[in-house]
Amino acid sequence: MNKHIITLSFLITSFVVFSQHKTIDQKVDELLSQMTLEEKVGQLNQYTGDWTATGPITINPNKQEEIKKGQIGSMLNILGTKYTRQYQELAMQSRLKIPLLFGQDVVHGYKTTFPIPLAEAASWDLEAMELSARIAAIEASASGIHWTFAPMVDISRDPRWGRVMEGAGEDTYLGSQIAYARVKGFQGEKLGNVNSVMATAKHFVAYGAAVGGRDYNSVDMSERMLWETYLPPFKATIDAGVATFMNSFNDLNGIPATGNAYLQREILKGKWNYSGFVVSDWGSIGEMVNHGYAENSKEAAFLALTAGSDMDMESSSYIKNLVVLVKENRVPVSLIDDAVRRILHKKFELGLFDDPYKFSNPAREKEALNNPEHTKAAREIAAKSIVLLKNENKILPLSKNIKTIAFIGPMVKPLRANHGFWAVELKEIDSTYIVSQWKGLVNKVGKNTKLLYAKGSDINSQNKEGFAEAVSIANQADVVIMSVGESWNMSGEAKSRSNIHLPGVQEELIKVIQATGKPLVVLINAGRPLVFDWTADHTPAILYTWWLGSESGNAIADVLFGDYNPSGKLPMTFPRNEGQIPIYYNYFNTGRPAQNETATNYVSAYIDLKNSPKFPFGYGLSYTTFQYSDLKLSSQKINSSEKIEVTVNITNTGKIFGEEVVQLYLRDKVGSVVRPVKELKDFQKVKLRAGETKTLNFTIDKEKLSFFNDKLEWVAEPGDFEVMIGASSADIRLRSDFELIK
Ligand code: BGC
Repeated sequence: MNKHIITLSFLITSFVVFSQHKTIDQKVDELLSQMTLEEKVGQLNQYTGDWTATGPITINPNKQEEIKKGQIGSMLNILGTKYTRQYQELAMQSRLKIPLLFGQDVVHGYKTTFPIPLAEAASWDLEAMELSARIAAIEASASGIHWTFAPMVDISRDPRWGRVMEGAGEDTYLGSQIAYARVKGFQGEKLGNVNSVMATAKHFVAYGAAVGGRDYNSVDMSERMLWETYLPPFKATIDAGVATFMNSFNDLNGIPATGNAYLQREILKGKWNYSGFVVSDWGSIGEMVNHGYAENSKEAAFLALTAGSDMDMESSSYIKNLVVLVKENRVPVSLIDDAVRRILHKKFELGLFDDPYKFSNPAREKEALNNPEHTKAAREIAAKSIVLLKNENKILPLSKNIKTIAFIGPMVKPLRANHGFWAVELKEIDSTYIVSQWKGLVNKVGKNTKLLYAKGSDINSQNKEGFAEAVSIANQADVVIMSVGESWNMSGEAKSRSNIHLPGVQEELIKVIQATGKPLVVLINAGRPLVFDWTADHTPAILYTWWLGSESGNAIADVLFGDYNPSGKLPMTFPRNEGQIPIYYNYFNTGRPAQNETATNYVSAYIDLKNSPKFPFGYGLSYTTFQYSDLKLSSQKINSSEKIEVTVNITNTGKIFGEEVVQLYLRDKVGSVVRPVKELKDFQKVKLRAGETKTLNFTIDKEKLSFFNDKLEWVAEPGDFEVMIGASSADIRLRSDFELIK
């Protein structure tokens, strides 16, 4: 072959190889250069499908036609391979054939439903939480979904706020660890794998601090509080590689988060150099008009885009106004390009340009939605999420040979109640796969145990007609189990409650059953910490069973009968009553701290209520007991480049296998700003056979000692620290001191 031909063929081959191996950035740029301004703006537009509405539908565009014209970049609330394929086929009729993204709130499972996120947080089991998100992703992705609007990583110290159910509770350290694990679980090894979905860190930011615990309400917060308490879980999701962010409905110090350039441009895309995209919350761009921050939808579009919101969920402000705003030279096209680039990048990463139907494979869908391994995991994780609050006289675990058990209460038989607010509505799937609490008990006990049932009361009414029947079956039983709580739609979005007592007459029902003198176990099912003072003081055994998902019944039975020894610990403080809210364990000491629960004169206390909570953060019992001993620090004095190795022995002093969440708290005794009385800085969940002792190791480094100082710099200040090892924030078993020197 002649030399020139060889060179030419080499060049051609290299060109082909090069074009096949273009980077995603190159592919995005190439596509962007072919797009009209209208098509670009289309990519920033997201609409809901007609499947379920997870927000108020205020617009009614002809979505099918708009998709064909390339005016929609993403749809939410379209489920299943059949429907996602139908919609994707419309996108394939558009000029540039840019695939749609299908988003969905896959918050705690898809078909297989796991415990609500707050409940799962009570497991303090990061692997379990990663696994449940993984399984949710496997199922959702097999059903055509590319993107979940989860995890919600909002810290909240206010159980009146209905959305505490969706988060990891009140603590920033625990919340950050969980945020990281959940993102890893949803996104799997890498985006582009057929069973990975994009995760969303939401709601950016401070949504959980709504005034009065009322959803969507304003937030007024210091910079220090923002940086120290509310931002870190979001940063953790970035460290985990989260694909997208969602902003929040609230204003922060007067500026709606959606139109907040400080949050989105300066912190997120600036300081944190975030390369994913930001979707608005449902209608939140348009809602800036109601906030009184934008004059009309056009100004709202201007403010949101310039502030860094890339995609408009369901307000149509972008699609209506951005083209005009560019033509009027108010919005530079470079800003539109930046937003489009971020979105196209994700579509390429997911592999949708290679195969837009990649996630719509009915055979995979069928298999993924009927996988017994998923059911098994849901049962195990549900059991791990249950918190044993009380167990006097060791009533629990129950024997499997009890002759007669009465199971009483409005939560015994319903199915939906176990699922909680954010369960995905799969209309084409019959819900009988959900295991009711009744079914779980039936599955568990042998033929020789007689089971009696009475509803007793509704969840939330004043009707006491069922009391007599409930008392009558209680009288016939050897043991009574009661299941009470909130209905599935009493915690969740727009489900703030000013009164978080057990609803209706349920606590009165507990009183009349308790009066029968029968051994009594109470199950409390809820999406938030509830107030149940009388029950807490007078009944001998209480399990906090939250909303545990599709395997609720089996998991509860596993714990009731000791097939699983409870290991959950509360991720939120339980108040004595609503007057204590906001309540959290890592408070400042004040200049006049109350030395004890009764002193009220000229100290920081209520004259009509103790300061301490009903159940503290980190609290939860086991059927066995644990002894903490031999706390050792490798050094009592370190400089900031050194570390302290902490060791502690934990012994299972009971007769059965158990797991303990060992918690490490630190206190910085004096700071350039006041520091909390204690802060969780590490934990380990340890498994111990009866009689077994394990030595746990923790490392304290500069990072764990740092905070935002008086100049808002992240520093560790020299001085004295206290290290506390505890079984809860209020049950510190071992303490020691050390000094940080310059
Ligand atoms: C919620 C979001 C959710 C979105 C889509 C909004 O109302 O605040 O958390 O992802 O709806 O369903």
